[in-house]
Amino acid sequence: MANCNLYPQSCGIQPIRYADGVLSLLDQRRLPVEEIWLDYTDYREVAEAIRSMVVRGAPAIGVTAAYGALLGAKASSATDFETFWDELNQICDLLGATRPTAVNLFWALERVKSLVRANPEQPVTNLKIALEYEAMAIAEQDVRINMAMGRHGAQLLPQTVRVLTHCNAGALATAGYGTALGVVRAAVAAGKQVSVLADETRPFLQGARLTAWELQRDGIPVTLICDNMAGALMAQGEIDAVIVGADRIAANGDTANKIGTYTVAVLAHEHNIPFYVAAPTSTVDLSLTDGSQIPIEQRDPREVTHTGDIQLAPQGIEVRNPAFDVTPARLITAIITEQGVARGNYLDDLADFVGRAS
Ligand code: MRU
Repeated sequence: MANCNLYPQSCGIQPIRYADGVLSLLDQRRLPVEEIWLDYTDYREVAEAIRSMVVRGAPAIGVTAAYGALLGAKASSATDFETFWDELNQICDLLGATRPTAVNLFWALERVKSLVRANPEQPVTNLKIALEYEAMAIAEQDVRINMAMGRHGAQLLPQTVRVLTHCNAGALATAGYGTALGVVRAAVAAGKQVSVLADETRPFLQGARLTAWELQRDGIPVTLICDNMAGALMAQGEIDAVIVGADRIAANGDTANKIGTYTVAVLAHEHNIPFYVAAPTSTVDLSLTDGSQIPIEQRDPREVTHTGDIQLAPQGIEVRNPAFDVTPARLITAIITEQGVARGNYLDDLADFVGRAS
């Protein structure tokens, strides 16, 4: 089976590779200090890699889960459809129990399962081959989708623009190119003068470690700020637009993204700065009417009390660590998808975009 890592027209950072039954993930916990690749052949270890943030970012989690399901399916000794189907469901359940907010995880697992569900007459060996093509297609399509989203989003930006972003919604959070940072890359490619302010994004520091790393590597001007500096910089007129990614978007446009996104949206609203969400239609969850129904992942308190092995807070302190918050649709200027840009009437536009994509 060929390697589908090569997307020559996208940026050079692709954190997920697959070839000949081995999934390789760039260990994002070690960036920016070390670039370490970890190899996986066991789906249980892939699930742990998702849970422990070796790989993170909603689209990247979805792509990784599809490969994880493939690895599990490949290892199956089942010879009849029923046994294979039961095993695949168990594999997908384990992978799906890792990160509850990122809906791309469930979207990708459903895509894998529906392929098998639709072909009960096929021998298991054929189903395994089909799953390999499907996982690779999900990865390849993700890059294409990001590039399309980038083209739509770039048109919204003026010729010279200072963009604030939160967390990492870049190549590292996808199969390549990025969502929010895909818009930045596309604007740069279109000849616009773009500079980025990256929120450090406590507690996991995706902005400081990942966004700063990948933009610096691509030669896109980037300045790192602490999360609590965004308001002051907006008040001083130093930010022209905010672009963030999303982990799950409800039917009405309410958007879950990295904790702190809501705060940035409120600040942007106060300062009359456009606030854009860039996300593929696979991040839209039409089954949820509004953002109050989005499950919010609660993570280990240690992410707040420690940085690496260094203790920052008193032993035994009470900690809250919700990984995501929900930005109400009314604070979002537009939602940029690969199918087009939704503005104002999110309910109809998002339903239309999802319908077109499926
Ligand atoms: O906890 P993470 O690092 O997986 O959170 C990532 C984000 O919140 C991203 O902004 C979102 O997944 C979009 S990535 C294109």
